[in-house]
Parts: sequence; structure tokens; C-alpha cells
Amino acid sequence: MALTIAPFPATSSAAARPGRFCLGASRVAVSATLAANETMDARRRRGEPVLPMGFGEAGLPAHPLLREALADAAGYTSYGPVAGHARLREAAASYWGRRGLPTDPDLVVAGPGSKALLFGLVSAIGGDVAVTRPSWVSYAAQAALAGHAAHFVSGDAGVPDAGQLARAVSAARAAGRQIRSVIVTLPDNPTGRTAPAAAVRAVCSVADRHDLIVISDEIYRDLVHDGEAAFVSPAALAPERTVVTTGLSKNLALGGWRLGVARLPDGWLGPELTGRLLAVGSEIWSAPAGPVQQAAAVAFAEPPALAERVALSRRLHARVARAVALRFARAGASVPAPQAAFYVYPDFSPLADVLLKRHGISGDDALAALLLARYGVCVLPGSAFGEQVGRLRLRAATSLLYGETEAQRSAALDAADPCSLPWIAASLDRLDEVLADLTGIGGGTTARSG
Ligand SMILES: Cc1ncc(COP(=O)(O)O)c(C=O)c1O
Repeated sequence: MALTIAPFPATSSAAARPGRFCLGASRVAVSATLAANETMDARRRRGEPVLPMGFGEAGLPAHPLLREALADAAGYTSYGPVAGHARLREAAASYWGRRGLPTDPDLVVAGPGSKALLFGLVSAIGGDVAVTRPSWVSYAAQAALAGHAAHFVSGDAGVPDAGQLARAVSAARAAGRQIRSVIVTLPDNPTGRTAPAAAVRAVCSVADRHDLIVISDEIYRDLVHDGEAAFVSPAALAPERTVVTTGLSKNLALGGWRLGVARLPDGWLGPELTGRLLAVGSEIWSAPAGPVQQAAAVAFAEPPALAERVALSRRLHARVARAVALRFARAGASVPAPQAAFYVYPDFSPLADVLLKRHGISGDDALAALLLARYGVCVLPGSAFGEQVGRLRLRAATSLLYGETEAQRSAALDAADPCSLPWIAASLDRLDEVLADLTGIGGGTTARSG
């Protein structure tokens, strides 16, 4: 079966204790990425070795220009408009304009991270949501929080297969459920890949036929390793039904600053959905942090210094992701070549027999748990991204290998061959050792800059 309706996570067993507060059913568990991060920190505190590849944080310092802009804006103490300051919305509109998407600043909504905006959109649109199997952990969880179901549809590189999407929508409707939106991730987390234009086009035409809103999460758009590669946004193909979200967390490594922006569709839907999204925002976050908005306006204006910073980070992400992918491939996993961001998505099914015989392991959860418990290697199982139980896929985020201090991370950014820096080389060597021990195959180190 290509698609299923995601069940809500199990109800808390502590729901009713006599003489205590009574809690209702919990619709979601703690985000898998955040939970993995906490586990890593606990191991570090115990002095145990770690390879932190669980958390998808960009792992680079804030650019000095942005630090200054933030400090200068400390006086922005008012809540300000829910949609964000005009200066920020105009800068975001110009950012999209430079990418071939002319944008009306009145149809830009800023929020405290694109994650919050995605939740706001799912709530504002209402109805069920189609998501790709596999896809980023939070889409299905957010749909559940908003009281809707996520329908997983098999796909690749962040885009569902168009034929299966059409069947999923029809099957859901026949069962009395309305799928009203489909989320695509361009480029994709967890696969680190970018879907081909034909796949994007096919999904847009299904969206058109079945009247779906396309939510295009383009948070990694500026981190396609080949900066010259063509990029097709659904907003260029289906402007009247596409919302685009992006932010500063990945390209400029400002995750903790919490700033995202949404570009609402053209036509009648734009103002309607903007109003609904603002209604959600007004009741949850009020407005993004004032000083951060001012710094974000500088970021979205893309002065040359920041464009250069993004180009350097793209180069670093490409080199380290490629080197990590090579280690997994040498150990016998099947690994799609990373194309964007800082993710590697190895599939251990070619090693299924070895893992079963040596460790009694037959699923990705057990594999990820073993890697963490025995070796301190933190990766996420593919099941966290909606993969079928029993698959042997893992997601490795490579950006926390850049260093533990700001000085190390800056050196990684500037290095033409970052994999030869001692701390990154040591992590790559450790990964080789762990994989050799895990599989009993090969081992030893080879060229570090792979
Ligand atoms: C695919 C995807 N979308 C959205 C986000 C959230 O980004 P933000 O920091 O803007 O909330 C992430 C962060 O991990 C992500 O991987």
C-alpha cells in the first residue's frame, strides 16, 4: 500500500492518576530531532565519545554583519504587526523576486521560524495533508496537533509520486476525508536530494486536478551544492495555489534566532489565506521578535558579504556530506549522492543479513539505537521520517561535525579542504572505525577529502 493515514501517537499512560491532574490524550511526542540532541548532550556530559549526526542544525557562526544588525535593533521592543515589519516583508519579497518569483510584500508573512508558519498554514487551510514518505519529522506531527491526518504518499527527494498522490486523494475522499494540501520539500530533508523538475510539475498538475494547495518548504533552497543547478519551485508552475516557506535557519545558520517567512499565493487565495494565517499567528506568537526582524531584513536583502557566506557554507556542506556518504558507501550501504544541505540518507538493506547475524537487528530503530548506545553515533532512523517499519534507512546530519567551538566552525567554513582539518578528519576516521566494527567488513582509512 502506498499510503496510510498516520495514527496519533499513543495516549499518555499517566493520563489519570487518582488525586492528581487529569491530562487529555497527547497527540504528539517530543520531536525526534530534539530528543536525539538531548541524548547526545547527556553522553557528552558523561565524557563518552560522540558523533553528533542526529540534529539538523547548520552548525556555523552568525555572520558579523547580522550580529551588528541584531545588536543595533535592540530598541525594537514593540510587538509590531503580526505579519512582520514592512521592511522585512519588502526584503523577503525582493529575495523571492531575485529567484524569479515576483512577490507582493502584502502577501508575505513572517513568523518565529518557518516551522511555526507551517503549523499556522496547516491549521489555516484545514483538512488533511499529503506528505511524502519519507519527509521531515514535523509535517505529520503538526497535522496531528492541528487535528488533521497526514497521509503518507511514497515519493522521492521531498516530492510525492504524482500517480500515488492522485490515488491517495481519491481514496481519502471516498473514505470521507478531504486532503486539502500537499507538502513538498525542495530540496529535501531527510534525503539531501532535490526532486527533478518533472516530478514537481507532475505534482502541480495533480494539485490542479484535485484542487490541492501546495505548501513548498524551500528552507534549503540556497544550499543546493551545485549553485548553478536549475531549481523549479511549484510557485512558478502553480502560482495561484502555492505557498512557499523559507527562513534563516539553514542558509545563514540562524536557527536559534527563529525567523521564517511565508509567500502566499497569487489570486483570490492569497489574501484569504494570509488573513487566516495572521489569525493563527495573532493567537499564538503575536509577531516575530522585533530585533530579529530587523537583522532578517538585512539578510533577505542579500548584501555581497552574506551571499559570499552562503556560497562558502554550500561548499562546506557539499564536501563534508560527500565525505560522510563515501564512508557509508564503503561500508556497504547504498547511499544516494547528496545534492543539497547537510544530510546523508544511507540504506543498510544490502547489509541486512550481516546486521541480523551479527547483531540480531532487522529494523532502522534498532540500528540507530545500537549506533548510539554502543558507539555514541547519533543518527535518526528513517521511521522518524515516516519510512515503513523494518526499512534500514538512517538519516545522518553532517553539519555538527564542523567543530565544537566557533573558531573551529569558522576554520571549517574557510577551508578549501575541510575534511583534512584534524577535528573533522578524526570524526570521519571514527565513522570508518564504527562502520567497520558494525559490519565486520573492511575498515581502515583512505583519502580524507572524499
Ligand atoms: C525541512 C525543514 N523545514 C523546516 C524546518 C524548520 O525551520 P525553522 O528553523 O525555520 O523553523 C526544518 C528544520 O529542521 C526543516 O528541516
